[in-house]
Amino acid sequence: MAAYDELRSRCPVARDASGAWTLFTHADVTAAALDHENFSNAVSRYLQIPNGLDGPGHTAFRALIERYFTAERIAKLEPTLEQVATDLMGQIDIPGEIDAVEIGSHFAVRAQTAWLGWPEHLEDELLEWMKDHRAATRSRDRSRTAEVAQRFDAIIRSLISARREAGHDAPCDITTELLRDRLDGRELTDEEIVSILRNWTGGDLGSMALCAGVVLTYLADHPHLQNRLRSGVTGREFNAILDEILRIDDPFVANRRITTEPVAVGGRQLAAGEQVILNWTAANRDPRIFGDPDTFDPAGNAPYNLVYGIGKHVCPGRPLATLELRALTRAILNATSMIRPDPGRTRERELPPGGGFATAPLRLR
Ligand code: HEM
Repeated sequence: MAAYDELRSRCPVARDASGAWTLFTHADVTAAALDHENFSNAVSRYLQIPNGLDGPGHTAFRALIERYFTAERIAKLEPTLEQVATDLMGQIDIPGEIDAVEIGSHFAVRAQTAWLGWPEHLEDELLEWMKDHRAATRSRDRSRTAEVAQRFDAIIRSLISARREAGHDAPCDITTELLRDRLDGRELTDEEIVSILRNWTGGDLGSMALCAGVVLTYLADHPHLQNRLRSGVTGREFNAILDEILRIDDPFVANRRITTEPVAVGGRQLAAGEQVILNWTAANRDPRIFGDPDTFDPAGNAPYNLVYGIGKHVCPGRPLATLELRALTRAILNATSMIRPDPGRTRERELPPGGGFATAPLRLR
């Protein structure tokens, strides 16, 4: 994040070796994310629902997807996710040492599989997949990322076909519901279902793990904040605190766009068909908006917080992500009297294009 701070101040719109433009300032990132006409999401040759769609196609799928994340549905899920978090903490020795990112990975897999109704025995396969996905992303080798993506699709396809074979006996859960859902009066194709489920899990398992790493590390570095949370705050205050920690050190670094017309941004003239990267991490620390970006001000900074994006593609999974992070953080706070950085082991930053930490060793007491 320090590197992005530097780039934002030195070169707010930068072109990399591949020719892609990165936007670093809050104003430019926001402007591009809100300009759905000139900045298209059709950046991939693969079907990506809904994030790779524009216009009415996006609107239709978005309406379908949002029904799975209503406040009512997410609130019903809270006891399940609290149980998942409490059970996970029950398996950890206290006092003892943890890696916050590893705990986040385990929790993310268990929480997502509980939400989607996927079998528990998939946990090891998904954890292995997350590791390979991270390594492939770091390598920036497209054939490697494609291979890892195909493996994930195969997992999803096997779950879908098992449900199709079970017919009326299929378990009553979110995955089955999606299989039976309708768009403009028709059933979704397997291709569409796989794409939606890939979007809900593939990328977000990793993001959840990174978010957990950032949140728990921040709490370890700020014991007074732990005490405040342990003394009891409302769910709303808790969520605002999580959002603000993630703003300060946003591990969900960037999303892509492609220009549809010649367009001016950040004092540069971009031609049609240019690749553009919106760097949320840098925008979330822009001193023109946040003053000292490390100043912790949940209420004051909330209106400008871009952790979950902005515009038509703003994260529909935000309520679920926030609930998951709150459940995990609460369970760790409840199970401990103090979370501290582990002086015996080194904290490592995730390598670009990732964000947050690769490993975040902590001591629990
Ligand atoms: C873990 C923390 C998460 C963060 C920080 C995060 C962040 C974001 C951001 C910044 C975007 C905007 C992308 C863009 O404008 O191109 C986005 C989109 C999206 N997120 Fe999340 N997300 C998280 C978790 C989740 C979860 C748990 C789900 C679903 C289970 C989810 C589903 C989606 C989907 C489907 C989109 C695409 C929306 C569209 O294109 O209309 N996210 N997310």
